[in-house]
Amino acid sequence: MKAWLRPGLLAVCLAGSLGLGPAHGQAPASAAAGEALYTGRMPMTGKLRGHEVALPAQVVVCSNCHEAGPSVGRSSAAYAPPLDAQLAQRLSRRQGPPAAYNAEVLCKVLRTGVDPALIVLSQAMPLFEISDKDCASLWHYFLQRPPGGKAPP
Ligand code: HEC
Repeated sequence: MKAWLRPGLLAVCLAGSLGLGPAHGQAPASAAAGEALYTGRMPMTGKLRGHEVALPAQVVVCSNCHEAGPSVGRSSAAYAPPLDAQLAQRLSRRQGPPAAYNAEVLCKVLRTGVDPALIVLSQAMPLFEISDKDCASLWHYFLQRPPGGKAPP
């Protein structure tokens, strides 16, 4: 190794060990993080359209409404459509023209309540303050879920 390279290399090693690298504190988007957001293990901020005040974090947990189960209202059917790999398919939703989701569109839906076919979702679906990274994590997670709602083991 050439002698002049060493100080630079040392600086890189130091920066790495001091946690100054670009990855520090910035875990990349992942399906695991997406699952934590979906199930409420990681809290999210959401409110009803037209309202200023955020709803309690427990109320805006995606799986509360998007997952069938005894905790959901009066019946065992899910209150809201399943969130799984089918989102990536060009399908007609809410009688609109066929359109597919992607990570970017998912962010837009969560922030504005407007779906990929430009149809406004019902007010029951909260609007979220969500980072691009968290949207991407949710998207990775949904792509992993086979249609029918069951996550892989
Ligand atoms: C309080 C209940 C509730 C919560 C909490 C909720 N949703 Fe929804 N969501 C709905 C309802 C109801 C709809 C259907 C709206 C419609 O068809 O107009 C919906 C629709 C959607 C759609 C459109 C699905 C499709 O097939 O086009 C997406 C995407 C979505 N929600 C994502 C989420 C995510 C992600 C979270 C958590 C961060 C979440 N929702 C939390 C009630 C909820």
